[in-house]
Amino acid sequence: MSASVPQPNLPARTRVAVIGGGPAGLLLALILTRAGIECVVLERRSRDYVLSRIRAGVLEQGTTDLLRMAGAGARMDREGLVHDGFDIAWRGDKLHIDLRSLTGGKTVTVYGQTEVTHDLYDALDEAGVPIVHEAENVAPQDVTGDAPFVSFDTAAGSHRLDCDFVAGCDGFHGVCRQTIPADKLETFERVYPFGWLGILVRKPPIQEELIYANHARGFALCSLRSPQLSRYYIQCRADDDIANWPDARFYDELQARLPPAVAGHLQRGESIEKSIAPLRSFVAEPMHYGRMFLAGDAAHIVPPTGAKGLNLAVSDVHYLSTALIAHYNDHDETLLDAYSETALARVWKAERFSWWFTSMIHRFEDDGSFGQRIQEAEFDFLASSTAAQTALAENYVGLPF
Ligand code: APR
Ligand code: PHB
Repeated sequence: MSASVPQPNLPARTRVAVIGGGPAGLLLALILTRAGIECVVLERRSRDYVLSRIRAGVLEQGTTDLLRMAGAGARMDREGLVHDGFDIAWRGDKLHIDLRSLTGGKTVTVYGQTEVTHDLYDALDEAGVPIVHEAENVAPQDVTGDAPFVSFDTAAGSHRLDCDFVAGCDGFHGVCRQTIPADKLETFERVYPFGWLGILVRKPPIQEELIYANHARGFALCSLRSPQLSRYYIQCRADDDIANWPDARFYDELQARLPPAVAGHLQRGESIEKSIAPLRSFVAEPMHYGRMFLAGDAAHIVPPTGAKGLNLAVSDVHYLSTALIAHYNDHDETLLDAYSETALARVWKAERFSWWFTSMIHRFEDDGSFGQRIQEAEFDFLASSTAAQTALAENYVGLPF
């Protein structure tokens, strides 16, 4: 696929103006296009920039099903890795969470978000959907009226895109949520007192399945992108700097937080990506304002512990695309009217799970030794209770849409 694409001929009007060319915006545009509903995607960054982002890589079954239904799942089915379970390590031991048996056959697929985004761009290009890259000063206009439009600038000049609806898929730092008057929006937030320091390395993973480790020194996660590309994380100070973490120090700390039997399998190599990400839980209610509907990170953020970010964007897109198709095809407004309430019901359950898993597996300095003991009691209960493991597994594979 050509990374830098020429700016398409811009229509003056479309059905749905999609602001944001990440997973939420791209998948929404693809599903609507497949249903015969014209869209234009307006993305602030270049395609190269969007495709250079390193993000999580665990897809729920609902996500893989929707990507296949939208015609963007073929490479995922060829290259994605189906995982039946994962391990949780603490106090030098490991507990296997058998997703497939605990959930009656459900699994997750390990396939990087970057690859999902690639596949969505390829499918949209093939479908001829106009995607405007490096769109600047994008601004939803008159979204509370019957004739909304989006103004934006490109190198070719200033543009106006008239539409029926605006889909705000522009992420946490986007413009769409910011244009909703403060008295029309309620936000909920928890910022965690630590970050995730992650590296990507072209070495086989420490083991095939993921390992989430709770340790007195801090959390660690062993993940992967392919049998030859590993992704590791360790909990670090929220204000830490990657300059403090040469590869050798990172690997030493990672191994110190893993059970010795596992740590010995680590294959070190030069990192090809290294970054620190903050952790927060955030929800904005409602997820719509007039004819503008928010989806994905534009409306909510989860800590990456439960790998819910991309999957929540997909469930929002499922609800919003279904509602817009009912509007156009059946002149039925009930699903659009209920979109925010429907999407938020699943969002909050994923927020709860992500908060719970984060609280259980990270080191909270302020909680002291009592907090560490409570966490270890959580693990002991988890290890002794199939019901507790089933609850964890059902949330991890993804609750029903
Ligand atoms: N105008 C146009 N595009 C914008 C604007 C703007 N004002 N602001 C942001 N964008 C673009 C960003 O450049 C980005 O490509 O919107 C896109 C939003 O994509 P994401 O941030 O990836 O959010 P989303 O599509 O909801 O996907 C959520 O992505 O960031 C991860 O962890 C997150 O896994 C989750 C997933
Ligand atoms: C990742 O592979 O980046 C990843 C996997 C599982 C998580 C978070 C991140 O919970």
